[in-house]
Amino acid sequence: MTECPIPASELYTDEFAADPYPTFARLRAEQPVCPVSSPRFDSYLISRFDDARTALTDPRLSKDLYGPQEHYLRIFGPNSAGLNKNMLNADPPEHTRLRRLVSQAFAPRRIEAMQPRVTQIVNDLLDKIVPHGEAELMRDFAIPLPMLVISELLGIPATDHDRVLGWTQVIRTSGSSRRSPEQERAAVQEAQAQLHRYLTELVQAKRAQPADDLISALISACDQQGTLSEPELVTTTFLLLFAGHQTTADFIGNAVVALLTHPDQLDLLLRQPALLPSAIEELLRFDGPLPVASPRIATEDVEYQGVRIPRGSIVGVVLNAANHDPEHFTAPDRLDLRQDRGPHLGFGYGVHYCLGVSLARLEARIGIGTLLRRLPELRLGVPVDELRRLPAASPFRGLLELPVRFAA
Ligand code: HEM
Repeated sequence: MTECPIPASELYTDEFAADPYPTFARLRAEQPVCPVSSPRFDSYLISRFDDARTALTDPRLSKDLYGPQEHYLRIFGPNSAGLNKNMLNADPPEHTRLRRLVSQAFAPRRIEAMQPRVTQIVNDLLDKIVPHGEAELMRDFAIPLPMLVISELLGIPATDHDRVLGWTQVIRTSGSSRRSPEQERAAVQEAQAQLHRYLTELVQAKRAQPADDLISALISACDQQGTLSEPELVTTTFLLLFAGHQTTADFIGNAVVALLTHPDQLDLLLRQPALLPSAIEELLRFDGPLPVASPRIATEDVEYQGVRIPRGSIVGVVLNAANHDPEHFTAPDRLDLRQDRGPHLGFGYGVHYCLGVSLARLEARIGIGTLLRRLPELRLGVPVDELRRLPAASPFRGLLELPVRFAA
C-alpha cells in the first residue's frame, strides 16, 4: 500500500474537522487515489471529480457489504445487520428490488404535496424560537425539522419522537463525548439494539393496525406482492428514518453557517429569495453533510490514476473534495449563489443517488428560506472557530451546537 502524503494524524484533527478543504486540495493535487488509515477502518480515498463520478458507477466497486466477505463487521461492527442490511448496502438486482417499492413514495410530485405540512412544522418550530432573540439552532430547528417530517411520513407516533431521536443522536454524535472508544462503541451498539427492537415492534404493530402512513403502505404492498421480507421492512424503515433526518439536519446547520460567514451572499439571498432553489445546490456543493460517500468494496483489483486498489479494499469517494475540484468548478472554494455551476455530487451519483433528494430540497428550501425571513439580523452566537463540530473521524460533517442571536 503506497503511503498517503498526508499522515492519518493530520486527517483526524480538530483543525481538519473545522476546515477539511485545504487537506482535500492536497489530496486531489498530490495523491488523488490515496490509501489512508482512519480510526474506523483503512480505505482508499478518491478525491477528483471525474474519478469520483466514475467510481460511483463502477460495478467493480460493490456496495454489497453483507456479501460473503462480511465487510460490515469491519465498518459497522457486530449486530449492525439488523439495521444496515438495506438498499444502500446492496448491489443490483437486490438493490433494485429494495429501492423500487419505496421510490414511489419519494417521487417529486408526492413530495411537493407535503409543502403545506413542512411549512407548518417550520413555523411551529420558529414560533418557539422567535421571542427569545437567541437559540441553539441544531437542537431547536435543524434536527427536529427533518426528524418530525420523516417521522410523520413513516408513521412514528409523536409520543415516541424523543426516544427515537435520543437513539439516532447517539449514533450521529458518536466519538464526540469524553467517553473511551470502548464506551462509545458500547453506547452506539446499545442505541442500535434499542432502535432495532423499537422498529421491529412498530412494523408488527402497523401490520396489526394499519394507518395512513408509509410503513403501513410498505407492509401492505409487501404482503400483496411479497417483495420485501419482514427484516427488510425494518432495515428499510431504519434507512429512511436515519438518512431522512441526519443529513438534512447537518446540511441546514452547515448552510446557515456558510451564509452567516458570507454576509454578501446572505444579503443577496435576502434581497432575491427566488435564488433559493439554486442557492441550496450551491450551499450543498460548498459544504455538504456527507463528506465521503458510504463505503464501497473492490471485488477485483482496480486501477484509478495509476494506483492499484487491491481486491477486498474499502474505497471512499470523497464527495466534498470532488465538489471543490478546480478542474471541474471555477473558483470552487468561493460560495457563489449567483453562479450556475451545473450538477455536483452532494446527493451522490449512479444507482444509489439520494432517494430523498426531493424531500431534502423541499425541507431545505422552506426551512432555510423561512428561517432567514423570520429571524432578522441573524448572526452567530459564538465566533465561527468556537463552533463545536462532529469529530473529524465521523462519517458526517455537521455541528454539535449552533448558537445564534437575532432581533427578537
Ligand atoms: C441534504 C440532505 C441529504 C443529502 C446531502 C443526502 C445525500 C445522499 C447521498 C450522497 C447518497 C448516496 C450515498 C452513496 O452513494 O454512498 C444518499 C443516499 C440515500 N439517501 Fe440521501 N441525502 C439527503 C437527504 C435524504 C432524505 C431527506 C432522505 C429521505 C428518506 C434520504 C434518503 C436516502 C436513501 C434511502 C439513500 C440510499 C439510496 C440507495 O442506496 O439507492 N436522503 N443520500
